[in-house]
Amino acid sequence: MEEFNDPKPFIKWAGGKDKLYSQLEQWLPFNITKGDFKNYYEPFLGSGAVFFNLAKKVSFDNVVLSDINEELILVYKVVQRDVSELMELLDQYKNRYSKLSDIDKEKFYYDMRFSYNNQRFNINHKKYSELWISRAAQMVFLNKTCYNGLYRQNMRGEFNVPFGKNYHPSIYDQKNIELVSKLLNRVEIKSSDFSSILDNVLNNSFVYLDPPYRPISKTSNFTDYYKLGFTEKDNNRLMEKLNLLNRQNVKFMLNNSFPLNDEYLKKYYANYSVNLITANRMMSGISSKRGKVSEIVITNY
Ligand SMILES: C[S@@+](CC[C@H](N)C(=O)[O-])C[C@H]1O[C@@H](n2cnc3c(N)ncnc32)[C@H](O)[C@@H]1O
Repeated sequence: MEEFNDPKPFIKWAGGKDKLYSQLEQWLPFNITKGDFKNYYEPFLGSGAVFFNLAKKVSFDNVVLSDINEELILVYKVVQRDVSELMELLDQYKNRYSKLSDIDKEKFYYDMRFSYNNQRFNINHKKYSELWISRAAQMVFLNKTCYNGLYRQNMRGEFNVPFGKNYHPSIYDQKNIELVSKLLNRVEIKSSDFSSILDNVLNNSFVYLDPPYRPISKTSNFTDYYKLGFTEKDNNRLMEKLNLLNRQNVKFMLNNSFPLNDEYLKKYYANYSVNLITANRMMSGISSKRGKVSEIVITNY
């Protein structure tokens, strides 16, 4: 894989690691830039910030990027295969939107959200088709104009994030999305629960994991973040898989919010090295509630 200049995430995502990357970088395996790992896996992809940052310096023979959110993965696959068509549609939306009054911009947003939600029944997420391109364009546009770039669905599977009152959004950066498309052309992108990805990790791999955060207070609500949530049971499944990878000598790095008690630390991470970094958590919709919280980085090296 040739080295890529400066690819960046092209969508906003809750828990996105772009700003935190410089802190995370110090916990990567020290020899990662020397070509010591042939394969890279990122099963909680989100905006892909860690992979995009890594790709500036490291090239892997095989890369597998995945996430359980099939609407998110649909967008990645369209960027991978049909980026020009995607940009054309985004230009159309951008031009129409930019000419509207603020009130009409809000209406434009809700009309698009309505259409996006209605279209979901016409999409076969298992089979790539032309329809994916317009769906991806709507998703990117909604992502850049909704509140805080959140992706939240109600129990019926409808995207229900309100208008973000961003009247002059930057929808996409042409150079970047073309660069990302080129980069994605060489990687495997999958919509999947993490377990089947981690069951098929090859030797000589590095795995980066960024699961949804554990609630750090009683009021933090996982279901706000993704309709399926990430439960204690999921965390147990994840730790079982990681213990297995560890036995196979696969190296991994995992992020999570700082556990409040030692019991949790002991239960899950006793065999690994636990490091602390601080993050401005962006999970809460209410800006006054955002603050510095600690975050843990677990490594098995
Ligand atoms: C904290 S975000 C990842 C953020 C990412 N590192 C970034 O920089 O944008 C967690 C991601 O895990 C995904 N996810 C939740 N449950 C999952 C599961 N069981 N298997 C795979 N992915 C899952 C969510 O859809 C979400 O995109």
